[in-house]
Order: sequence, then C-alpha cells, then structure tokens
Amino acid sequence: TARLELRCAREGEAALRLDAHPTLRVRRAALRGTPGDGGDPQPLRVESRPFATYGSALHVHLPQPLRAGQLLSLEIDYEAGEGPGVCWLAPEQTAGKQKPYMYTQGQAVLNRSFFPCFDTPSVKCTYSATVQVPEGFTAVMSATSWEKQKDNTFVFKMSQPIPSYLIALAVGDIVSADVGPRSRVWAEPCLIEAAKKEYDGVIEEFLAVGEKLFGPYVWGRYDILFMPPSFPFGGMENPCLTFVTPCLLAGDRSLADVIIHEISHSWFGNLVTNATWGEFWLNEGFTMYAQRRISTEVYGLAYTCLEAATGRALLRQHMDNTGEDHPLNKLRVVIEPGLWGVNPDDTYNETPYEKGYCFVSYLAHLVGDQSKFDAFLQAYVNQFKFQSITADDALGFFLEYFPELKEKGVDSIPGFEFDRWLNTPGWPPYLPDLSPGEQLMKPAEELAELWAADSLNVEVIEAVDITAWRTYQLVYFLDKILQKSPLPEGNVERLSKMYPKISKAQNAELRLRWCQIILKNNLEAEYGKVKDFLHSQGKQKYTLPLYRAMWGGSEAARALAMETFSATAPQLHVNVQNYVKKILGLEVAE
Ligand code: BES
Ligand code: ZN
Repeated sequence: TARLELRCAREGEAALRLDAHPTLRVRRAALRGTPGDGGDPQPLRVESRPFATYGSALHVHLPQPLRAGQLLSLEIDYEAGEGPGVCWLAPEQTAGKQKPYMYTQGQAVLNRSFFPCFDTPSVKCTYSATVQVPEGFTAVMSATSWEKQKDNTFVFKMSQPIPSYLIALAVGDIVSADVGPRSRVWAEPCLIEAAKKEYDGVIEEFLAVGEKLFGPYVWGRYDILFMPPSFPFGGMENPCLTFVTPCLLAGDRSLADVIIHEISHSWFGNLVTNATWGEFWLNEGFTMYAQRRISTEVYGLAYTCLEAATGRALLRQHMDNTGEDHPLNKLRVVIEPGLWGVNPDDTYNETPYEKGYCFVSYLAHLVGDQSKFDAFLQAYVNQFKFQSITADDALGFFLEYFPELKEKGVDSIPGFEFDRWLNTPGWPPYLPDLSPGEQLMKPAEELAELWAADSLNVEVIEAVDITAWRTYQLVYFLDKILQKSPLPEGNVERLSKMYPKISKAQNAELRLRWCQIILKNNLEAEYGKVKDFLHSQGKQKYTLPLYRAMWGGSEAARALAMETFSATAPQLHVNVQNYVKKILGLEVAE
C-alpha cells in the first residue's frame, strides 16, 4: 500500500495524475480523511493511461474538485515487482549463492514501477516505509532511521525531503560492520571481511573533508551496501546508504574515487537536485568537481589530475563513438514527455559527467581563486538545499554571487558563452589544466610510446619499473596503449608476458582496459578473459564498451559477443540487457 499525503496546489483540480508502470497493478484506491476529520475511506476510480515507453500515467478521479491548499491522503493498494525498478536475483546471482536477493534502482525513471508517485526530480518529499521480509533476511533502505520490529518487520523513516529516484530498498542475506563513527559497510556474509578491510577508517576523512568544503552533512549516517555482481553501476548515491558494485573490493582502496563521488552527491544531487533529467549535468558535473576537490585534499593534486585525465580519455572515447554532434553531447538535453521523447535513462553517458566537470572547472577558472570558488560552492548548496533547480538558477546565482564577473559579461565571452556550454554538442570549449599530474602521466605515456614501436627496444622497456605504479597510472598507460592499438604484430603478447600485474589483474578498471586491448588487437587466444570478465560482473560502463568493441571487430569477436550475451543476459539489469541488444542489433521489447 502506498499512502501519499498531498496538498492541492491549484484550485479546482478534480483529478490527479501519477507516474506508474504497466507492470504495476493497482487493486484499489481510496481517499482517507485528513487526520481529525474521521470518516471512512472513500473509494476512488483510477485508470491507467499510456504515457511513455518507460512508464504509464495513473489517473485518479476525485469525487469533487479540490480547493487550493486542501490536504488529502490518498491510499493506493497495488502489486509491483515485474517492472524494471525492482530487481529479483536468484541465489546463483549472489556472491554467497545460497539465498535470493532483491533490490530497487530508481534513477532515473524506474521507481514508477516500484510505487506510484510523482517520479520527477523536481518534487521532493519525506517518506516512511514498513517492510516485512522472510526469516533470515535483512531489509535496508535509503533512510535516516530504521528499526527492526517483531515478525521480521523493518520500519524506515527518511526525515529529509528527497526526490523519488532516491528511495531505495534492498533485501538479502546481508550483515554489517562498522568502518567509522557514522559509517558501516553492508554485504553478504562472505564479503563482509573484505568490505570492512577495504574501507575501515577511511570514510570519515572523506566526509569530514566534504563538510569542510561544502557545509554540513545533513543525512546522519553514511553507510555503504556492497551489491551483488550484476549491479549496473559503480555506485548509486542513495541517501544514507550508497549502493556500490562489489568490483570496488580491489583489496588496496584503489577505487575509492567511486565512494568519494557518491559522498559528493550528499551535497550535489541529493541536497541540490537537477529539476529535470535534461539537466543531469547539474547533478553529475558538480559532483565530479566536488569529488576531485575532496580527492585533491586527501590524495593531492598530482594524483587527482591523473584520475581526471582518465576521465577525459573516457569523454574522448565517448565522443568518438557517438560523434561530437550527437544531441546527447549537449549539457542541456531536450526531454519531451510522451511516447516520442528521449528516455531520461538514455542520457547516462560521459557528457554530463566530464563535460559538466569542465564547465564547473571553467566557472572556477573565471573566479581564479580556489578558496573563493569553494566558498561559492558552499553558498550554492546553502542557497538551494532541499530544492530542485535548473541550470539557469545555478548560473544566475553564480553571476549574483560574483557581481564583478557579471559586470564583465563572463556569460557571453565569444566561444565560451554559457549558452554555448549548455546548448552546443561537442568537445568542451575549455579544459582544466591537468599538468600537475604530469609527473605521474609522463612515465606512462613514454612507456606506451615504447610499446607502440615497430621493433621493440626491450632494454629500455625493461628498465622501466612499473611495480610501484598506482592503479590509475596503469589505467592511464593502458588507455594510451588502447589509443595506439592495434599495436605492431606480437607487441601485445610480449606486453602481456612482461606485465602479469596487468594481464592477470583482478582490479576491474584494469580488467576492462585489458579486455578492450585484447579486442582492438584481435588477440583471439585471450578471448577467454573477455568472457570471464563479462561473466563476473554486470556494470553498464564495463559491459557496453566491450560489446561495442566485439560487435565492431572480427567475425570471431562477434561470435564471442553473441555467445557471451546469451549466457549472461539473464543476470544483467534489464536496462543493460536492452542496451546490449541494441548494440547487437537484437529486438528490444518495449
Ligand atoms: N547517480 C550515478 C549513477 C546513475 C546515473 C544511475 C544515471 C542511474 C542513472 C552515480 O552517482 C554515478 O555517477 N556513478 C558512477 C561513479 C563514477 C563516476 C565515479 C558509476 O557508476 O560509474
Ligand atoms: Zn554520480
């Protein structure tokens, strides 16, 4: 049962339209009296109407027109579960392989198949939920408080207003371990030791630096749930409880940038939210900037610039794949409602992240002083917290905050107009200076250069010691190798033998690049590695590039794609399944 407490905004409305999904079966709807006015619930007529490929509209007919300001309490009895927002996993799809698991993933527009709601990021509300699970299971939610009652019933409350996409639930055989004063990790029992070891004692520093830079952390706890391997994202910033891929369990904290990213959403995204998915860069671009500010404070500028350079390489790859002029390569995407519009979930690509990062970096560059820009970010959060805003709101506030810049007309400098940033597809007009990372990037670039030579200078290559390189240095090196691929005959095999640290890596970021290199060099003997990697996890950003590479490759590569997809499809998130189908030219059922 969903109960929505609403206040009528417009005089005379006699119907209410909610987001729902064809798989959501409404049994009955009723109007409850507001507290105090007693009376029996009044049954209501509801009807489902087509809306878009990704959901339907639930029309609720009210007995009489409402007055502006009138409160109403709507109760909807329904059944859900077959839609894309609710994922059911069989025991074999979990790490422990003993018990089933379920979780929800709301962003961007999937929660309408979990519960009827206003499924737009422009509406925020508090929520509470009562969840009963079978014996031996634990339920967790994105909530500020929770309590276990009798009969395996959990009661959750989120006391801060949030958009619908941040409501999340997971149920499984999961346990927890403390890793900081306000943080614990949750995972299946067989992963909990590794999870604790990965992040024990480090989360608090990220939170503290975030608070120093951006203001109070308003969500109480910051916990992390390690998901089953098919979880489609690196991380999902569900408030109080980030969901992450188990790929982060690298054993050496090398993938903590994902955690810093999700923590950064505590201010950018979860407190100040994009009002529409067409301006998703407000969530992700500001978050990338915040992530790299925290990273700079914790790990230093050189390392952070190196990580940002790998991000830039991803943007380059993305624009090469799609063509710079693709309409989704604008920061502001036109999302029209209805059957012909863009599905908001299709805007998930590198542009809002890395081009958005460049735009925020450009704003910082206009200001010219890091501490002044940090102060602006803090003021921005304070100004818009618990609200949903447009890019015009954000940029308007920027110009008000820096009147001298407004006077200079920084929003209309030829070639760098704010309007151009927002509405022109393609490569960012300004790139932040990443040269402080040079000391880490240079050796990797030079080594890649050596490996691309027609006749290898083995002596010089052997003199380069990569044993002490950080993961992101290796990633950067592999991206360079990939750019130069196919390498001259035999070089990749030599490289593979010389660096087992790379070719036998367990780290997912390294495995992804190694698989991409295998495919671009068409090393059929190594195809097993691509297959194993795709069987081991289902993250969208790992899965799609590999299928694209296979499909663009040889006959054998295409066969590998088909074989791997038919074996792994049932484990993949439905969205990821559908994107792979598109790549492979298979029918997608809407
Ligand atoms: N909010 C996103 C994940 C997301 C985006 C889910 C769009 C559904 C639709 C999350 O914060 C994210 O960006 N994760 C990244 C982390 C990376 C940029 C460090 C990921 O999953 O790769
Ligand atoms: Zn994000």
